[in-house]
Amino acid sequence: MRSLVLGLQFGDEGKGKITDFISGKDSVLVRYNGGTNAGHTVVTGKGTFKFHLLPAGSLRSKTIVLGNGMVIDPEALISEIKTILPENPELRILVSSAANVVTKLHKAIDKSQEEMRGASKIGTTSHGIGPTYEEKYSRNGIRIEDLKDVNIVRKKLSLISKMRESELRGTEYQSEEKLDELANELASSWPSIKNFVTRTESFLFESVRSGEEMVFEGGHGTLLDIDFGSYPYVTSSNTVSGAIHTGSGVSLRKINRIIGVIKSYTSRVGEGPFPTELKGQEADKLREAGSEYGTTTGRPRRVGWLDIPLIKYASELNDVDELSITKLDVLGAFKEISICKSYDHSITNPMNVLLGFEKTVPEYITMDSWGILKESEIQHIVETGYKSVPQEMKDYIGTIEKMCNKPVKIISIGKIRESTIIKE
Ligand code: IMP
Repeated sequence: MRSLVLGLQFGDEGKGKITDFISGKDSVLVRYNGGTNAGHTVVTGKGTFKFHLLPAGSLRSKTIVLGNGMVIDPEALISEIKTILPENPELRILVSSAANVVTKLHKAIDKSQEEMRGASKIGTTSHGIGPTYEEKYSRNGIRIEDLKDVNIVRKKLSLISKMRESELRGTEYQSEEKLDELANELASSWPSIKNFVTRTESFLFESVRSGEEMVFEGGHGTLLDIDFGSYPYVTSSNTVSGAIHTGSGVSLRKINRIIGVIKSYTSRVGEGPFPTELKGQEADKLREAGSEYGTTTGRPRRVGWLDIPLIKYASELNDVDELSITKLDVLGAFKEISICKSYDHSITNPMNVLLGFEKTVPEYITMDSWGILKESEIQHIVETGYKSVPQEMKDYIGTIEKMCNKPVKIISIGKIRESTIIKE
């Protein structure tokens, strides 16, 4: 089986938990887009692990692949490898030689661009992701394979610094000494990563041919896609299912199962439109109940009710086979739960609402909640399966299935890994 797990909202849907759940110890796990702007937390009996580059199932899989479509900060990569290997010493790590390198210079550019945007800032993670993709497409990017030669890195840094003069004005990255220092620092990461670096597409082709169990994990969420998302409040890579081809070399035709992950409500970090956003006390209540603070930046996330028109759009765009719903326990904090079923007049494309072309108000239905689940109740559901899920939760899930016309196959009802269950 070759599965693809991706988010249908604004990121932070809990994809990591689903990847972790469906991947076994023999799986090949693949990431194909984004960089450290993504982030996920996995809670196991051994503790809480936060990853930004490595896919979520890394703790127990056999092989992980960071594809060519990613942008990689070598320092972060080395640090995550140091965290993972003691936990999973047999893990094979492969990093694409063609992935682009995020440098401190790109982080400085990210910061400077946001300052220049002023009131219309995007609210990026400031991890240098956008500028690194810009470099890639301007064909001046530093690729992972360049790190083996300090002279190549230095030459590229000089060119970037020259071309980006106005963005780097006032930063330290215009001095020759600083660029020397940065080139040396980047090249010094090579000995620690060189054994992992390869043309990953060849490995992936072979894995497909030999029928390996494979799980591809999309970074970010569909509504942050550079083309189909709420532009300009988006990330700088494609996050839709088709990106696996350009980001890893594996054709979407090779995927047997596309799982669209949604959180039981909506959240968003950074700026940009959010039709079902809650404000004030209700927002605070949901944020606290769901611990909605960014894994990557620690920023409080904006939160709101589930938005079905947007999920239907994302589900069609990605051609998903099934849905997976996470954090269902969180909505138990409310007596009544709302779902946005439509907007107040018929719209040609729900993205036009996000893009501000069509002004409209969400229309809600309300449903009874299942109340706060005690640890023992969650435990009971985990042990006995879906039949023990409270009826109100089953109704909520059934409503989503009906509205989206997609089956829900996996749900998550608590923080720990074991609280993810299959809906028969
Ligand atoms: P960038 O990806 O750092 O350029 O940030 C662009 C926008 O995408 C910002 O609003 C970020 O908060 C958001 N973003 C990027 N990656 C993620 C993610 O994995 N989860 C949630 N939001 C994200």
